[in-house]
Amino acid sequence: MFKPSLVPHTLLLAGGIVLTVAVLVASETGNIRLRESYTDVIRSQRVQTELAALNSELVNAEAGQRGFLITGKESYLEPYYKALPRINELMAQIRADYAQDRDGLRMFGDTSRLISSKLNEMALTLVYGKRDLEVALDLVRTDYGKQTMDNARRDLENLLAREAGSVSHRLEGADRNVQLSRYGIALLTAINIMLLVAIGLGHARRLSQAEAERSQLEEEGVRLDRKVRARTRQLSALAGHLQRVTEDEKTRLARELHDELGAILTAIKLDLHWVRRRVQDTQPEAAEKLSRVMLHVDQGIQIKRRLIEDLRPTVLLNLGLRAALCQLVEDVGTRNNWETEVRVPEDLPPLRDDAAIALYRIVQESLTNASKYSEARHVRVWLDFTTTQLTLTVRDDGKGMPPDFDAGSTSGHHGLLGMEQRVTALGGSMRIDSSPSSGVSIRVEVPLTASVLAPAEVPESET
Ligand SMILES: Nc1ncnc2c1ncn2[C@@H]1O[C@H](COP(=O)(O)OP(=O)(O)OP(=O)(O)O)[C@@H](O)[C@H]1O
Ligand SMILES: [Mg+2]
Repeated sequence: MFKPSLVPHTLLLAGGIVLTVAVLVASETGNIRLRESYTDVIRSQRVQTELAALNSELVNAEAGQRGFLITGKESYLEPYYKALPRINELMAQIRADYAQDRDGLRMFGDTSRLISSKLNEMALTLVYGKRDLEVALDLVRTDYGKQTMDNARRDLENLLAREAGSVSHRLEGADRNVQLSRYGIALLTAINIMLLVAIGLGHARRLSQAEAERSQLEEEGVRLDRKVRARTRQLSALAGHLQRVTEDEKTRLARELHDELGAILTAIKLDLHWVRRRVQDTQPEAAEKLSRVMLHVDQGIQIKRRLIEDLRPTVLLNLGLRAALCQLVEDVGTRNNWETEVRVPEDLPPLRDDAAIALYRIVQESLTNASKYSEARHVRVWLDFTTTQLTLTVRDDGKGMPPDFDAGSTSGHHGLLGMEQRVTALGGSMRIDSSPSSGVSIRVEVPLTASVLAPAEVPESET
């Protein structure tokens, strides 16, 4: 499923993500605990303030009670009356603050009972005191009030100490959480840096691998291109060589046919002529037979001439390319009932034999194709030249190449390919234009170089 090289990276990434999430969760939990700790600390400090205030209000109330009992003046009761609502209010606040703290609530419950009983004792002494101070003082002297007050204050001191302890405990915990959070963030940063480095290194490695593969492919492409070019050159050279060999062979065959077969046929014809003269009077029937044989020999000589002409157009060799092309176009045009047009300059530069034969064969194959496929009515052959180049155009007004014609496919079709090879061997180029409305046009351009021009015509710079 995964590419092998990607597996470690994917694992690394997945591991990194899991670790990051874990550290984030731990850090968030720590933060929540930290917030809780701070809330507790604030509550604890508030409770401490309230406990201290309660303590001092109790002292105020007791001081008011004592002042009144000692002096008998009601004005000394002012702090007592002020302290009472404040004490109730503070006790309610402290109870509310201990709502979430069961132990605290229980402990404060005990303290509250002591405070209530102290307040009752004070209220009682004051009720008695207003009637008879001595009775009230006797009540005070029982020490019950002092003990209750001492116990209440001790409880308040304990509660204060408990809150102070809880504050420092909470602060220590908060400190630990902050520390843990810092470690978590440091760990997260380290993991992220490691991941980034690992991913960066992997990416760089993949990039350099891709670069190496690309340059390897490029080299391979260049090597293949060079090989294909070399092979194409070799094949072109081979095709050129084969065409030359074929032309040489045709020339040799034409010469053999002309010299050997021609001589024999001519000798036979002469001898037959001689024999017929001798037997003409004595054996007229035999003379008649001989005349028929001589007719057959004449046909044989005609066939031999045509064969020789096809193999090696004598008019091309004897009268040159212009005359040969004119004759060829006229012959083929007459056979196909075409209107023909030949335009070849009279001052055509003399060409090498193989160049002239190549151009002749190209026209020959183009005309053969036109007669086989084009259904044309008008065919024209133009040959033109400049100082550097020769241009040959064969054009018909037929139906054009088949729409599905594939110039690359050569199976069973060698005419156009042979033409192209001949042009390549001359160092030139060939272009085929075709459309159903304007037929087929074949345009060949050949540079006038040493391999094309007859030796006397080659400019000095080219020899
Ligand atoms: N003048 C033309 N008009 C219409 N179609 C043409 C013309 N010349 C060539 N073609 C088409 O191009 C094809 C290839 O021609 P090419 O000369 O290469 O092969 P061929 O004539 O079929 O066979 P070969 O020349 O080897 O005997 C032909 O089969 C024909 O369909
Ligand atoms: Mg052909």
